[in-house]
Amino acid sequence: MLAGTEATAIAERVEKLRSLLNEANYRYYVLDAPTLPDSEYDGLLRELQAIEVDHPELLTSDSPTQRVGAGPVKAFAEFGHAIPMLSLNNAFSEEEVAAFDRRVREGLDRMDAAIEYAVEPKFDGLAVALHYQRGVFVSGATRGDGARGEDVSANLRTIQSIPMRLGTESPPEWLEVRGEVLMLRRDFERLNEAARSNGEKTFVNPRNAAAGSLRQLDARITARRRLSFFAYGVGRIEGVSLPESHTAVMDWLTALNLPVSNECSAAIGVDGLMRYFHALGARRDALPFDIDGAVYKVNSLADQAVLGFVARAPRFAIAHKYPAQEEITQVLGIDVQVGRTGALTPVARLKPVFVGGVTVTNATLHNEDEVRRKDVRVGDSVIVRRAGDVIPEVVGVLPERRSMRDLVTPEFPPFSMPSACPECGAPVIRLEGEAAARCSNGLSCPAQRKQALFHFASRRAMDIEGLGDKLVEQLVENDLIATPADLYDPSKVNRESLASLDRMAEKSAENLVQAIKDSRSRELPRFIYALGIRNVGEQTAKDLARHFGNLDALMAADAEALHEVPDVGPVVAESIRAFFSEPHNLDVIERLRQAHAWKDGEARRIAVGKLAGKTLVVTGTLPSLSRDQARALIEAEGGKAAGSVSRKTDYVVAGAEAGTKLAKAQELGIRILDEAAFFELIQHGDNTQ
Ligand code: IVH
Repeated sequence: MLAGTEATAIAERVEKLRSLLNEANYRYYVLDAPTLPDSEYDGLLRELQAIEVDHPELLTSDSPTQRVGAGPVKAFAEFGHAIPMLSLNNAFSEEEVAAFDRRVREGLDRMDAAIEYAVEPKFDGLAVALHYQRGVFVSGATRGDGARGEDVSANLRTIQSIPMRLGTESPPEWLEVRGEVLMLRRDFERLNEAARSNGEKTFVNPRNAAAGSLRQLDARITARRRLSFFAYGVGRIEGVSLPESHTAVMDWLTALNLPVSNECSAAIGVDGLMRYFHALGARRDALPFDIDGAVYKVNSLADQAVLGFVARAPRFAIAHKYPAQEEITQVLGIDVQVGRTGALTPVARLKPVFVGGVTVTNATLHNEDEVRRKDVRVGDSVIVRRAGDVIPEVVGVLPERRSMRDLVTPEFPPFSMPSACPECGAPVIRLEGEAAARCSNGLSCPAQRKQALFHFASRRAMDIEGLGDKLVEQLVENDLIATPADLYDPSKVNRESLASLDRMAEKSAENLVQAIKDSRSRELPRFIYALGIRNVGEQTAKDLARHFGNLDALMAADAEALHEVPDVGPVVAESIRAFFSEPHNLDVIERLRQAHAWKDGEARRIAVGKLAGKTLVVTGTLPSLSRDQARALIEAEGGKAAGSVSRKTDYVVAGAEAGTKLAKAQELGIRILDEAAFFELIQHGDNTQ
């Protein structure tokens, strides 16, 4: 023990350190706007740790040092909820939402009123209750069966966005906060990446990862997993009276430093609910976390009390679900497809399943290592995921079901890549450090030839209407064409030769000949993209065209010159150089040049546009332009239309209901333009600098 003044000084320093660290945590994890550099944070944390070691009497459970996770326990203690944690009824259609709204109006005896609702994402994680006594986090539990859950206090302490002390001078005697623990997608990817590189099992989705992490008996493991929390309600409270509405309660929680998603809002009537549902649904894949629906809650707490509960769910709230993005189905076979660059992709043939809004019959297994790691075999029950426009993928197998199946049928062997190309029989090679096995036959492999031609003709490349995969297949198989240059050779592709193909009418042959003619003189970015150089996508093709201005300059560029192009790294540079040093490719390009397949120079003009060298991000709904139109205008003026906001962003063009990108721009102090200011900028350039 220390004498008076020194003891006070140390206690004060401890208080000061804790409040600095708490503040830094809050800014970093809740506001997503860090103010303290990592090194300083670490320094302060170490100082606090050192004092607590020397003066254990000063250690408290809410100290920021306690977030690293306590040691393992044998089992979780049971935790009885003072007020049961209920579930929500579901609605799957607008009719069901309208019926819910009708029941609400009936229940309130206000048939003609338009009801105000609080609207929120339905977070796809797990429900927990957090308990604060006089503003200090004292315990927390999972939902369990609603009446009794598990005491996971030690694990919850490791979640950095959960405050260990509420941000108020006058905390309520007791506050129970309810919300969802989840794992952000980026943290999930990071976790799985680490698991993959250590040869460990990966999690199938962020929800499972969050559940697995929160229920770790050793909280030090939870601490390393990076979980997040969003509040969506309160449970038992003492010593404070709540405001009048749910949204006001959420604002109050926000003021107490609790994380509330900025997707939470309010809406009026069924129309308002549906608008929110569609707007949130449109952004579903771009959100930092998984959601499986929207939740609507009658906003007035007095009205909520009138409506009450039926069975285990409130009458005042409902979950409106989006179509599931994951379903379970069975693997009927595993095929191997040969891609444009010869990469062999294992593809699972599936028992048809409705997922993400479409019927899926095939799902990619990415590559050999991926199939091995997941150990997907014919006959397995698997989880298939289709999110947005992303190609469906097999995320994992349900091994429990395999053992059941093995009772009736013998086990299938593990998958292995064929040693010969399934299309041309050439040896399959896998280069050191590459995930993909490849057919070694290059463009002599008909499958690669077909893919290269199909890509060349595709809409975003040379845009030759009518030249789809079936037709390309016939052209190659009948030896009419072997390279893109052959398309422009009238001795090979003409009305007669085309009309001689299966199911090819005179008229379609004529249309195709015309479409091929029309595809000449395409702009340079399209042409570069159409060449199908490995690792050169549409954006890189644009960047290259803008930088070099003509194809000859690009072809002559060495690695050093290529590195000057923004976003071109060593891998892309090497792919480009390899492509242009291949004699066969040079020959094809020369013939395409004779055919005037592209026009140079166009890109030069772009490079001197009003937005040359500027990066813009478009977000939200603009009054007259679609986002694609706005992007096209930016590019036409030589600017770069980027997808996410960073310090490199020059302007953010924001419309209605702009969300996190706008917030990020404000935080970074980036100039924000509405549509009118954007028009002004592209007409007159930036006059303010
Ligand atoms: S309110 C009495 N709001 O959905 C109402 N729940 O089916 C209690 N959930 O166990 C829940 N997002 O895990 C509410 N914005 C949200 C939610 C939400 C996700 C989960 C929660 C709950 C389940 C109910």
